[in-house]
Amino acid sequence: MSSETKATYKAQSAAAKRRSIQKDEERQESRAAKQARKNQTRMVPVPSQSIVPERDVGKQPILECRNLGIDFGGLKAVDDFNMMIGRTEIAGLIGPNGAGKTTVFNLLTKVYQPTRGTILLDGVDTAGMDTAKVSKAGIARTFQNIRLFGSLTVEDNVRIGLHNQIKCGMWSGMLRLPRHWITEKEYHDKALELLDVFHMADNANDIAGSLPYGAQRRLEIVRALATNPKLLLLDEPAAGMNPSETAELMDTIKHIRDTFGIAILLIEHDMDLVMGICEGIAVLSFGKVIAKGTPYDIQNNPQVIEAYLGKQEDKGGE
Ligand SMILES: Nc1ncnc2c1ncn2[C@@H]1O[C@H](COP(=O)(O)OP(=O)(O)OP(=O)(O)O)[C@@H](O)[C@H]1O
Ligand SMILES: [Mg+2]
Repeated sequence: MSSETKATYKAQSAAAKRRSIQKDEERQESRAAKQARKNQTRMVPVPSQSIVPERDVGKQPILECRNLGIDFGGLKAVDDFNMMIGRTEIAGLIGPNGAGKTTVFNLLTKVYQPTRGTILLDGVDTAGMDTAKVSKAGIARTFQNIRLFGSLTVEDNVRIGLHNQIKCGMWSGMLRLPRHWITEKEYHDKALELLDVFHMADNANDIAGSLPYGAQRRLEIVRALATNPKLLLLDEPAAGMNPSETAELMDTIKHIRDTFGIAILLIEHDMDLVMGICEGIAVLSFGKVIAKGTPYDIQNNPQVIEAYLGKQEDKGGE
């Protein structure tokens, strides 16, 4: 065999090898995609043009928004917002910057009163409630920018969340009656139990502000959970986290839903996190819902892709 033929033969067999590796990878990928679809919760259509997990069908939805809207001057920051969330659903609210996602959380928690529309929490109309009342009624949240009591200990931050549940009279506290010490122990035990869910019990005496960023984000979630919510709202919980912290957070969110049997509504820009754990997703753009569906539906919705990436002609026909 001439050296030229040898070289051609070598190149051909290398190309064949590459093709076979590529095919293997494609096969594996489609197997993984099929498995992911199989693992996805079966979602069932319900009113409000929504879908809820099959296991929650026939039960009172934890949240229903009907034609919700708020105007800031001439800006319709949220308009005609309809959404239903199942009792144990992990739902996602996504959309480009400024779409109105945080404003929806502010409406649900009564930081803002809606200009129009209705919010039903576990079947109860929240009209006229203030932030304290909706917290008691069962909505807890975390914020886009961390809001902890940085100079207090980790345990004290959680105990603040517990305040609406454990009761101790003013006189018991002032006079240090036995009831006061029983309550103190209840607070301490409950705070440590919750911190343990996030493997943070050992940090109980640390100053909250001195914790690493990821741990502060987790502490915010623990504090929100301490209010014993039926619906937990998380505003960009993975912001600023590294990939391994985000992966851990994803497991923790599922763990919270499974352990506490509550619903979670998540705003997040990290698409791996959203597509990995959300069962139903709503997409906001300029204050309006432009799509609802399973992660698979959303990923393949041209309107969603356009909202995130812009139209081809917007980019000068690239
Ligand atoms: N209190 C307010 N007064 C006036 N305009 C507001 C107010 N709060 C929000 N907005 C406007 O409403 C729109 C939606 O804001 P919002 O913070 O809800 O967006 P977002 O989807 O959370 O964005 P991001 O992904 O950047 O956090 C923006 O145009 C914002 O400037
Ligand atoms: Mg926001």
